[in-house]
Amino acid sequence: MSDPAPTRRLYIKTHGCQMNVYDSERMADLLSPLGYAMTERPEDADLVVLNTCHIREKATEKVYSELGYLKQMKLARQAAGQSMTIAVAGCVAQAEGKEIMHRQPAVDLVIGPQAYHQLPELIARAHRAKGERLSADFAADAKFDRLGAVRNPSGVTAFLTIQEGCDKFCTFCVVPYTRGAEFSRPVEAILAEARSLADQGVREVTLLGQNVNAYSGEGGLAGLARRLAKIEGLDRIRYTTSHPADMDDALIAAHGEVEALMPYLHLPVQAGSDRILRAMNRAHTADSYLRLVEKIRSQRPDIAMAGDFIVGFPGERDSDFEATLQLVREVGYAGAFSFKYSRRPGTPAAALPGQVADEVKDARLARLNALLDEQQTAFNESQAGRTLPVLFERAGRHPGQLSGRSPYLQAVHVSGPDHLIGQIVPVRIDSAAKMSLAGSLALEFA
Ligand code: SAH
Ligand code: SF4
Ligand code: F3S
Repeated sequence: MSDPAPTRRLYIKTHGCQMNVYDSERMADLLSPLGYAMTERPEDADLVVLNTCHIREKATEKVYSELGYLKQMKLARQAAGQSMTIAVAGCVAQAEGKEIMHRQPAVDLVIGPQAYHQLPELIARAHRAKGERLSADFAADAKFDRLGAVRNPSGVTAFLTIQEGCDKFCTFCVVPYTRGAEFSRPVEAILAEARSLADQGVREVTLLGQNVNAYSGEGGLAGLARRLAKIEGLDRIRYTTSHPADMDDALIAAHGEVEALMPYLHLPVQAGSDRILRAMNRAHTADSYLRLVEKIRSQRPDIAMAGDFIVGFPGERDSDFEATLQLVREVGYAGAFSFKYSRRPGTPAAALPGQVADEVKDARLARLNALLDEQQTAFNESQAGRTLPVLFERAGRHPGQLSGRSPYLQAVHVSGPDHLIGQIVPVRIDSAAKMSLAGSLALEFA
């Protein structure tokens, strides 16, 4: 027998959306056959991967300050006769790879999201050619083919990317430039990956895509959900993020028919003023969005709606902002993410007149958040007294406590035995707060 590969330590820091979380896991899967084991401490790492996000200015700035700290750690390791390879991945790597190389000489490798399958090769090259600095971005060959189907999941829920990229070009957004054109993985590859997850005890998958409901593999997202629902052990299916323009009748019907499709839908609207929606290049109006929500609720009356909002888009007047508040009141959201507009270089909205002052954005964000918080709390409180099936995911923060999720993606805390982790169990909801529910086991479990 040959000696096992020497253990090298890998530290990955992930920013941004769930797709980055998925990508980080896949990078770890790819590197493990090379002898890389994960560490929680960057100062111990032979290889550091910084998986970055470009969506707002703040996220991007963070990369450069973190690289400053990593450079210090790299120098300390070198002084002790060790080494540290620093790789920058993700959307900032794609958008400003050259600038990263220029601003931070400690970086060895810059790698865009379409090139992750080349990571082992690039790391090996970086090791051989000491001092050579490498970069890779949009790759001609499909990365998913080379990532393979075998996963090494760490819990009972998992992310699964089915679609990547975006052709919508909302005028505020960098994603079409960082993730490239829309690409859908073939159904069979997704089913194989899902089976591998289910075989390892995963009970819930969240299908990911920048425009997940634009999935264009055979049968569309509705067909895929129906096929995934048949996989033994896979009892819950979620997907995110959807665009209102791609919410077709087949998918809406599936919400009424496929039991595994969870009653929670993240359907960003961004704003409630048609004038602003047009300037954002969103393909919907406030009214068409409201009608869509109504149609979805006619199939699945209890569905929990979530959304994304941007306040202070260029040219947004008080009356436009009031229209956003009005739309929120009409929909009634169970959860939402709201952001101040951030001017992104290279996007059409960055050049628009009427940029809104930061104080105005702050004031609007505070009012919007107050309303959304109120709705979220009300939604959670409306569950008190009900019995909900909860998938237990992990031990809770306190001894003897378990933590799981309701069908509506609410966090639920319960006292109960550890062996319930990975099971879906009825829980009576006793009380609710803004962020979570507290309940008790509805049945006796020895
Ligand atoms: N593909 C998804 C989400 C992409 S980014 C969709 O179409 O909904 C996640 C959220 O970040 C967006 O929904 C939007 O609300 C926000 N966002 C994107 N660009 C932004 C910017 N320049 N400033 C502030 N928020 C932004
Ligand atoms: Fe960005 Fe719009 Fe595409 Fe979503 S749909 S990723 S907001 S361009
Ligand atoms: Fe950020 Fe890229 Fe995701 S910009 S939100 S990491 S797609």
